[in-house]
Amino acid sequence: MVPINTFPGSHFTRDQHGLSLSGVSLLQLSKKHGTPLYVYDFDRIRQRASELSQALKTVSPTSRAFYAVKALSHLAALKLISSEGLGMDVVSGGEIERSLAAGVKAKDIVFSGVAKSRAEIELGISAGIGCFNIESPHEIELLLESLQSQGNKNIGAEKINVALRINPDVDGHTHAKINTGLADTKFGLSPVLAMTLAKKIQASPQLVLAGVSCHIGSQILDLATIKQAAKQVRQFASALLQLGAPLRHIDMGGGLGVAYRPSELPLVPSFLDWVNAAKLSLPNADIDLHLEPGRSIVADSGVLLTRVIDVKSGEKKAFALVDAGMTELLRPALYDAYHHIESVEPLTNSQTKAYDVVGPVCETSCWLGENVALPNIISGNILAIMTVGAYGMSMASNYNTRVRPAEIAIENKIPRMIRKQEVLSSLWESEHF
Ligand code: LLP
Repeated sequence: MVPINTFPGSHFTRDQHGLSLSGVSLLQLSKKHGTPLYVYDFDRIRQRASELSQALKTVSPTSRAFYAVKALSHLAALKLISSEGLGMDVVSGGEIERSLAAGVKAKDIVFSGVAKSRAEIELGISAGIGCFNIESPHEIELLLESLQSQGNKNIGAEKINVALRINPDVDGHTHAKINTGLADTKFGLSPVLAMTLAKKIQASPQLVLAGVSCHIGSQILDLATIKQAAKQVRQFASALLQLGAPLRHIDMGGGLGVAYRPSELPLVPSFLDWVNAAKLSLPNADIDLHLEPGRSIVADSGVLLTRVIDVKSGEKKAFALVDAGMTELLRPALYDAYHHIESVEPLTNSQTKAYDVVGPVCETSCWLGENVALPNIISGNILAIMTVGAYGMSMASNYNTRVRPAEIAIENKIPRMIRKQEVLSSLWESEHF
């Protein structure tokens, strides 16, 4: 077995039987379970979660990470990540319920995101979640109203922790569609507005201003942007302390990028570098650092296996038409995202040819890779789309009445099915004539 040198750290190897993940043959898995098929290396997820927790312990014993559930939402992944001591960062009532269903304790859940509804806020209060990251004045009103009505039913005797999400007007230098820290985005509060809200929270006997939060975007490789935001957060947090706010943590969000191209590997900061940049937000040593990583925990654990249905030579290009597309992996269609693609088949020689790897959905944007160098491929061959553990399956859809694929987790070199392929008739189960 030779480790393939594309993504060191992740557990891909290649031998005369083709590509393997964590010692498990991907060809065998595709034969047994069919394609498209998501496969995750759970040992890698555990390793990443543990590495980040250790890096955070260099700040203080109680500094911790809250995994962004939206990146890979499977219950088994949440259970694994929570067993490494991470809490959960959720952005919907659904993600609260999902985390609870995975066995996560309510107090380990932090609720981020814009446009939280009254029902979602009530759910968070009655479940007893750890903190609400506030993004608008309306959320404070909803919280106070919900507390009042629930207080009558004597549900939430305890006080509610809130953090104010600051929009620092900092460019995360990432794709425009996942850049969230600029003043013209819908996210967070201007420091001026946040200060008004802080006074309101301080005046409320039911709310505790426990933190400040900030998230400037995703797939960030340049830590200078995190440092810039962190300094602003520290300034704001210091002002809150002067106001007498009982701050306990600063939450610098998620956003650490991963290498999608082998050439990006040297550009990816380590967890320790990220923590050291984010901790510049702390106004004093008594305050914990929180982070909300998604991608950096799960992205490189995942691979999407797809079968070549047809190879077609167009006038200008050769197309590998495969059985996965934008329904299984939306990122290329939505963000022009690059995902490295390898043949899973045994390699007989080193000659390659350029193919556009495209899916079956009736959209020109249904593509997975452009000008991909692959060995000469024929229909029936299996390809591996790499680095799809984050925002892969969690963004899959049923467009074109396609079922979402099965998922396999490999742990201690043993593969197990953690989700069956969707049943076609379930797609119209709740429809009526
Ligand atoms: N915290 C908040 C408030 C967030 O909005 C997000 C991601 C995270 C944490 C986690 O960020 P991460 O560590 O994963 O970068 N679908 C896009 C990514 C959208 C990210 C949305 N928010 C993609 O496929 O690239």
